[in-house]
Amino acid sequence: MAFITWNSTLVVGHPQIDQEHQKLVNSLNELHDAMKAGKGSEVCKKVLKELVTYTVAHFATEEKLMTQKSYPDFPSHKREHEELLKQARELNEKVQSGTMTISITVLDFLKNWLAKHIQGTDKKLGKFLTT
Ligand SMILES: [Fe+2]
Ligand SMILES: [Fe+2]
Repeated sequence: MAFITWNSTLVVGHPQIDQEHQKLVNSLNELHDAMKAGKGSEVCKKVLKELVTYTVAHFATEEKLMTQKSYPDFPSHKREHEELLKQARELNEKVQSGTMTISITVLDFLKNWLAKHIQGTDKKLGKFLTT
C-alpha cells in the first residue's frame, strides 16, 4: 500500500501544480518503498536527493505563477517555501553524510511537511489562480 494516497484533499485545482504535487507524492512513496524493501541506503539517498531536486523545481513553478499573476500573498508563500526547503536540505545533508538514516519518523515528517503546505498555502494559491 502506498504511503501517501493521492486524494481530493491534496487537489488545489491548477493542473500544472496538481501534476507536480503528484510527482512529489510519488517520490515520497518511492522513498517509502525503498526503505521498506530494505534497499541499500544508496537507493534511499538517491530518491531523497531527487525529492529535493523536484521540490526546488516545483517551488520555482509556483513562484513564477505567483509573480506573473501578482499574487498578493506571494511574500509569505515564498517565505514558507524557503523554510520548507531549508528543512528538506538539512535532512538530505544528514542522510547523504550518513549521520541519519531514512526511517518511518523521517518519512512521517516529510509527509506532514508536504501535505500541510499543499492543503493550506497551496490551496489558497490554487483558488486564486483558478477563480
Ligand atoms: Fe507552495
Ligand atoms: Fe506546492
